Amino acid sequence: MKGKKIVIGVTGGIAAYKAAELVRLFVKSGAHVRVAMTLNATWFVTPLTFETLSGSGVISQMFDREGASVDHIRWGQDDVDLIIIAPATANIIAKISNGIADDFLSTMVMAATAPLLVCPSMNSRMYINPAVQDNIRKLRERGIFIMEPGQGELACHTEGPGRLPEPEDIVEYASLLLAEQDFSGLSVLVTAGPTVEPIDPVRYITNRSTGKMGYALARAARRRGAQVTLISGPTSLRTPAGVEACPVKTAEEMMQAVMDRRSSFDIIIKAAAVSDYRPGKTADHKIKKGADSLTLDLVKNPDILAELGRTKKEHPCILVGFAAETRDLLENAREKLKSKNLDMIVVNDVSRTDAGFEADTNMVRMIFSDGRIEDSPLMTKDEVADLILDRLKALRENNAGSGC
Ligand code: CTP
Repeated sequence: MKGKKIVIGVTGGIAAYKAAELVRLFVKSGAHVRVAMTLNATWFVTPLTFETLSGSGVISQMFDREGASVDHIRWGQDDVDLIIIAPATANIIAKISNGIADDFLSTMVMAATAPLLVCPSMNSRMYINPAVQDNIRKLRERGIFIMEPGQGELACHTEGPGRLPEPEDIVEYASLLLAEQDFSGLSVLVTAGPTVEPIDPVRYITNRSTGKMGYALARAARRRGAQVTLISGPTSLRTPAGVEACPVKTAEEMMQAVMDRRSSFDIIIKAAAVSDYRPGKTADHKIKKGADSLTLDLVKNPDILAELGRTKKEHPCILVGFAAETRDLLENAREKLKSKNLDMIVVNDVSRTDAGFEADTNMVRMIFSDGRIEDSPLMTKDEVADLILDRLKALRENNAGSGC
């Protein structure tokens, strides 16, 4: 989103308060945001809220500012990357559909050349009203992007469709619309998160992986146009929009899921932190407290990545591993790159607090099969994901990926 220019139109519905979070998320991701409000929206949230969050003046009236007479033309023009109306009431949808321009927002939209994303939010009976549905259909036919509203309890205590999509989902949808589609036509498999290995019905062995890096990779690949499958151990993260999710728990389940699908992918990225060992036997019942010490017998799990590398000739793809290390980073990672027959390995120093497990930032070392090494600065995991994808794209273009 860095440097993207976004205009957010806020109309008069209770979900207008959620637009404040939407503006905050866009600004956080590096976008320049300007907000246009309808007069009705100012009953719900004040312009000052949006001015403070966006750092830019808010327009809510057509004729209230000196020298602003052509703003309604300028705001939606060429230098704007995207206009988003969130929340969009039945009224603004009807106005756009029927070419009515009677306030700043509707006039600006009528003159706009930038793409438009509409996020409806209203009472569910209003939403399913045939007039509203007709208007939505007309907008779609004209190439306007419309997000499906969420389902659930609405502010008016009814249930049904009509909730404003979550701000994070609107940002994700917008980033899909804005991204360069340089991975279009490619299929990418990402594994993410920890695996859990049950000891008994209430206990298990796992590790500190949160899945953030793998999910960031899946999200970035999808945003850049790839068809993405995400095989993930248990995490608290949402599957990115448009990504096919395959949830697993144990290393053996992950192995099965990967091997069942592997042949259809151009790129496989194994960001999951797979448990190397599992209890040899899972107790059928909760193990009761008894002696002062207890010994667990562990057996080795299959090494999924090593198996993918071993059979890469039969299933050509670019194969990427991650290495979680606390010492001898370079030496250990080079050994994994070679022994698992990888095209690239991404090394995390998991002893740092600002990188690796749990952190939102990461600083990685990328080692390539031709011996090149590249260090990234400390970046957000989303930025690291894009950097890794840039390098994978270059590997494909140079045909340096072995077997690809
Ligand atoms: N990996 C895997 N299956 C395993 C263990 C690891 O597919 N049973 C993959 C991970 O997804 C990662 C890479 O291998 O991409 C390296 O994982 P890591 O835990 O750093 O290394 P290990 O090979 O398990 O070696 P060690 O734990 O001894 O460092």
